[in-house]
Amino acid sequence: MTAQLNPRGDVAVLVPAAGAGVRLGPGRPKALRLLGGDPLLVHTVRRVAAAPSVRFIVVAAPQADLSAVRELLDPVAPVIVVAGGATRQESVSVALDAVPEGPEIILVHDAARALTPPSLVESVAAAVRAGRGAVIPVLPVVDTVKEVSGEVVLRTVDRSALRIVQTPQGFRRPVLAAAHAAASDPLTDDAGLVEKQGVRVDWVPGSELAMKITRPFDLALAEYLLTGSSPGTIA
Ligand code: CTP
Ligand code: MG
Repeated sequence: MTAQLNPRGDVAVLVPAAGAGVRLGPGRPKALRLLGGDPLLVHTVRRVAAAPSVRFIVVAAPQADLSAVRELLDPVAPVIVVAGGATRQESVSVALDAVPEGPEIILVHDAARALTPPSLVESVAAAVRAGRGAVIPVLPVVDTVKEVSGEVVLRTVDRSALRIVQTPQGFRRPVLAAAHAAASDPLTDDAGLVEKQGVRVDWVPGSELAMKITRPFDLALAEYLLTGSSPGTIA
């Protein structure tokens, strides 16, 4: 029997978690770094599993930590764990190949977005269910944005049409499969591959809590949001 959550759910969530976390500094792979005492991946999977539409979760874990990740997630939720690849795109492709028959809605969600609320998983899934081929959560750009070249500022960019892109990104299954089958150069998000196929991508409002934990400051901020205290970074 394949590990499943809600058997009536129509969504499978792929969780790329095989990255090293170079920008976070030396230490374990990022998905296994601790936040409020638990690995980032545990927080992420717990929140995804709390979304009622989700039937399957497929985690792409670092090759060297496969059995550790299986043991870690066993008490959290039923998940399928596969070995990730050298790039995020490869990790997503491997996870996509491991999705059992059934769900026609596939979400891709970074392990590094550990505090993403289950409601965002549901709102992206709902937009795909309503007939969209590809849906991404976005936030407005709040800072002034400039284009630079070397040390020189070239111009101020009109930010009104720009958006910050988050995950989970949602797709009808054949749309994501075709985009990955046709992919050549690795991109940092899946909607980018779908855009290259000429398929329309829609957006829904994102969430501040779906921020990606990338640098030490992000981890300290997440720790503060979760526990109300932070290890020294915020003076
Ligand atoms: N990821 C993956 N396989 C890779 C690279 C990245 O599954 N070969 C995953 C990461 O684990 C993360 C998500 O893709 O959950 C987003 O990537 P990023 O934030 O860049 O994480 P890392 O690649 O781990 O970080 P860094 O780029 O700083 O090394
Ligand atoms: Mg990376």
